[in-house]
Amino acid sequence: ALLDWFYKNHRILPFRTDPSPYHVWLSEIMLQQTRVSAALPYYERFLAALPDIPALAGCEEEKLHKLWEGLGYYSRVRNLQKAAKIVCAQYGGQLPADYNALLALPGIGEYTAGAIASISFGLPVPAVDGNVLRVITRFTENAAPIDLQTTKARIKADLEQVYPAGACGTFTQALMELGACVCTPKSPKCSVCPLADVCAANTSGSQTDFPVKLPKRAKRHQNRTVFFLTCGDRVALSKRGDKGLLSGLWQLPDTDDFLNEGSAIAYLQNVGLEPLELQKIVHANHVFTHIHWDMRCYYMTVREAAGSYTWVPLEEVRRDYALPTAYRQFFEVEDDH
Ligand code: ADE
Ligand code: SF4
Repeated sequence: ALLDWFYKNHRILPFRTDPSPYHVWLSEIMLQQTRVSAALPYYERFLAALPDIPALAGCEEEKLHKLWEGLGYYSRVRNLQKAAKIVCAQYGGQLPADYNALLALPGIGEYTAGAIASISFGLPVPAVDGNVLRVITRFTENAAPIDLQTTKARIKADLEQVYPAGACGTFTQALMELGACVCTPKSPKCSVCPLADVCAANTSGSQTDFPVKLPKRAKRHQNRTVFFLTCGDRVALSKRGDKGLLSGLWQLPDTDDFLNEGSAIAYLQNVGLEPLELQKIVHANHVFTHIHWDMRCYYMTVREAAGSYTWVPLEEVRRDYALPTAYRQFFEVEDDH
């Protein structure tokens, strides 16, 4: 019933039209933290620039980051490239048709390996993401918390038993599609669901009791001061270190805590700059997975493009530099003036 439903009702998506291993890999990595509608333009642009795995392996870092700008979680694209290099060195530029070999590549976890193995290679390996967990925990009224690795492992093992020979890729996609379009988080459309007759939660009306999740840990909160420093048409950028949040990306200069105007000026003098005019102060937030930034941004002109910053024409920043959204938003404020 599920396969039949999928054949008749699935959305036409570019990575379904041509589900090559590279296409499925890229799309699933993009879709891990991004909605389908938001990811599609990125997917098309990325493939136009880097049509195959050797092209991805050889792409220059700034260009790679630029293609990912706005998607966030840049470690995803760095891992894509790391894996692409390994695939070129070890597998002649083609992903291996083997679940464990896929799993051994950087950035490819059980979910992505399962998606590629089943969708592109037709192997009977489930790909268990949030959509699938929601469908299955409702279908079986399984109250185990889905955050636990043991829950995912159990559901994966159970699904493996029912993978239909000859339609493994369709089965993976059908489960995902049902979760995305029918068995939705808030109000599942059970009346049009192909599983309605045999779904435990539908039978007892308990749909929205599932999936069960562990209580959320509070996000860490951080106050930050950000500087939008300009000298003529140039703006100050700095590069983040190799470790931690947003590592290796360009950013606007910033520092911990909220500085008042006097402390902000002292801070800049301390790094060898001579502030001229404070134009405005803008507040903004950015929410990462584990941390919440509360940001106060000082827009200031300085006398000389000095200090250890890299001074780049505004237009070039817009065109060539990938800035994390946390900082990029301060450029959009600028646009209005
Ligand atoms: N979400 C994540 N992967 C997906 C896929 N292959 N189809 C639809 N939604 C998805
Ligand atoms: Fe989800 Fe409802 Fe279908 Fe059960 S019947 S799988 S709860 S949409």
